[in-house]
Amino acid sequence: MTRLGQSSIEDVVAAMTLEEKVRLLRGKGVSISGEGGPTVGVKMDERVPGAAGSTFALERLGIPSLVMADGPAGVRIAPQREGSDVRFHATAFPIATLLASTWDQALVEDVGSAFGHEAKEYGIDVLLAPALNLHRFPLGGRNFEYYAEDPLLSGKMAAAFVRGLQSQGVGASIKHFVANNHEWNRFAMDVKVDERALRELYLRGFEIAVKESQPWTVMSSYNKVNGEYTSECARLLTRILREEWGYDGLVVTDWFAGQDVAAQVRAGNDLLMPGTDAEETEIGEALASGALEEASVDRNVANLLRLALKSPTFAAYAYGERPDLASSAVLARRSATEGMVLLKNDAGVLPFAGQGSLALFGNHAYDLIAGGTGSGDVNKAYSVSLREGLEAGGAKVDTDLAAQYQAHLDSEKAKQPKLTGLAAFMPKSPIVEMTLASELIETAADRNAAAILVIGRTSGEFADREASDFLLDNGELSLLGRVSRAFRSRRKPIVCVLNIGGVVEVASWRDKVDALLVAWQPGQEGGHAVADVLLGEVNPSGRLPDSFPMMLSDLLAAENFPGVATGEATMRAGAVPVTPSEIEYRDGIWVGYRYLNTFDKEVAYPFGHGLSYAEFTMTDLDLSSESFEDELVASVKVANTGAHAGKEVAQVYISAPSSDGFEKPSEELRAFAKTRLLSPGESQVLSFRLTLRDLASFDATRGSWVADSGTYVLKVGASSRDIRASARFRLASTRVIGGAAKA
Ligand code: GLC
Repeated sequence: MTRLGQSSIEDVVAAMTLEEKVRLLRGKGVSISGEGGPTVGVKMDERVPGAAGSTFALERLGIPSLVMADGPAGVRIAPQREGSDVRFHATAFPIATLLASTWDQALVEDVGSAFGHEAKEYGIDVLLAPALNLHRFPLGGRNFEYYAEDPLLSGKMAAAFVRGLQSQGVGASIKHFVANNHEWNRFAMDVKVDERALRELYLRGFEIAVKESQPWTVMSSYNKVNGEYTSECARLLTRILREEWGYDGLVVTDWFAGQDVAAQVRAGNDLLMPGTDAEETEIGEALASGALEEASVDRNVANLLRLALKSPTFAAYAYGERPDLASSAVLARRSATEGMVLLKNDAGVLPFAGQGSLALFGNHAYDLIAGGTGSGDVNKAYSVSLREGLEAGGAKVDTDLAAQYQAHLDSEKAKQPKLTGLAAFMPKSPIVEMTLASELIETAADRNAAAILVIGRTSGEFADREASDFLLDNGELSLLGRVSRAFRSRRKPIVCVLNIGGVVEVASWRDKVDALLVAWQPGQEGGHAVADVLLGEVNPSGRLPDSFPMMLSDLLAAENFPGVATGEATMRAGAVPVTPSEIEYRDGIWVGYRYLNTFDKEVAYPFGHGLSYAEFTMTDLDLSSESFEDELVASVKVANTGAHAGKEVAQVYISAPSSDGFEKPSEELRAFAKTRLLSPGESQVLSFRLTLRDLASFDATRGSWVADSGTYVLKVGASSRDIRASARFRLASTRVIGGAAKA
């Protein structure tokens, strides 16, 4: 009697008919549930309503159906079920960009564990997260779901999240493999990128995540890379991912991705999601015609069986659909505070010392943007506004002003159409800021001790940001100017909080505020978390995972983002119209601080920047050797010389010697660590182990990673432009690290 778990994988595959094998290669169909709205698309017999999809069972051989659910900010399932008044909420954690801003791998691992707990208790086998595409350009629509402009920070955060998630016995799906850096026409976009940039920037984060966390699944992306759909590309999915990096899990498509199903199967894309009958037919026809060999099908089915063997469903885990949301909420709040970045704090106006009441301006002071929309959204039970957080923290808030804003929000929301189905999935248009009468602002300035202005930006799958979204609009600028004048004329501070999913322009107006805090989209507990920081319960320790440029045009990607159409729109099978198009990543490796620092461009705030209520020094930098053999250990002492307990992030950058005609960035992040909470006067020694790969660049002509001989400079800093200590070491001879799959 052949059965999964009792027989070898090979025997189970051999016991299948060809039709049974083919059916296992595709999912059961789509179920996209809008925000509380009805399920849209082909309804399937969902074990977990609202999950993104599931695979077929084959009871005859003991193969269960596996359930997959989104997403990077929380478990996404339908909050209501027909015929039941029970609510099925999950925790809306802070967005990935905020988690990256913590620079704290241990914390992100804890968050991953909480995700895993909730997913397992809701009957999920694979969580479709983390998403780690590079923040190539601030207008990328899904940057909120991704970590950073740097591949090391992205990869390390993803690996930490995966370790935590999978420690609970639920699988991860690192996505979207690869170069899905924007949303426009994503189903058909052809990304033209040179091999060095592909290796050093776009693949590197995934490489780190695969090697350091062994994710159960990898999700290939919608787009093409250099003319080939990633989901159909054997070089990416087999030669690089499996043969070069040693990945032994399953590869799943993004939903409805790609065109040539036989090519997907052959390339090593094991599972087609959400799955359509047309795909099954196409695979059968390809096998019958000989265009597809059965060995590829067997290989892919075997990978699905290995995944099933690890799954909670195969273990018949008796999930209770009652996860510990209270504990998750505590962690959501703590992680949110750890990822907030204090950009400016003139004269130490923060933390508020409990004097007088606070005047809150801006819609989003009363209506928090907890996260983005689309598959990265979470059907959460609540979200805490800044007003609620401040009052819960014991602060007094101007209630007249609050009442005006609440009335404005209520009336504007009443006008918004009730969105259901796919429309509920799309990015939401923001509510226009209220026009305040001058006397209202003047009165508020008379009777409050300080002003807090919140600037909000939504973000979502399916659409990139408009260039205008990067700038404050006239209503926001006018409000900012008027509030700033009114409070400063009375020698009272104005603090600005950015409730955003991606980088915005700040240079032109930051002089109008005394303090500037990036809260990102901080999850359902966001109001408490921002209040914790503003009131001094928590000392901010976040550091920027992205550069804040002076203007978008300072970045090379601005030149041709988001690409050009190269043909007429056509309908994809069963999905949406696509326009053949392409974008050339002409910036190559010159992305973010790699470009801005190397070419000495002025920035509003640099990669890695973040202030504290304390001050820190970094001294006693020590290298294990001045000549590099196989590894090198650097250590540095971080001391709190301030008056508040706090945490510091030590960032290790390497400047490598350039060889002739092979330019390198002025420095690249190669290691980082966050201290524990240091009391005033306390210090901690942080150590970093650097390997040959940390010195190497990818030389496309040799098809290898190469560390050039010469003198290297190791820099330790509090940001990429605030270097506190540096030391040199030598590599006596050029070292070639082979094994890369040929381009
Ligand atoms: C979406 C997204 C992907 C998500 C999947 C399932 O289109 O691109 O991130 O996991 O489909 O919802």
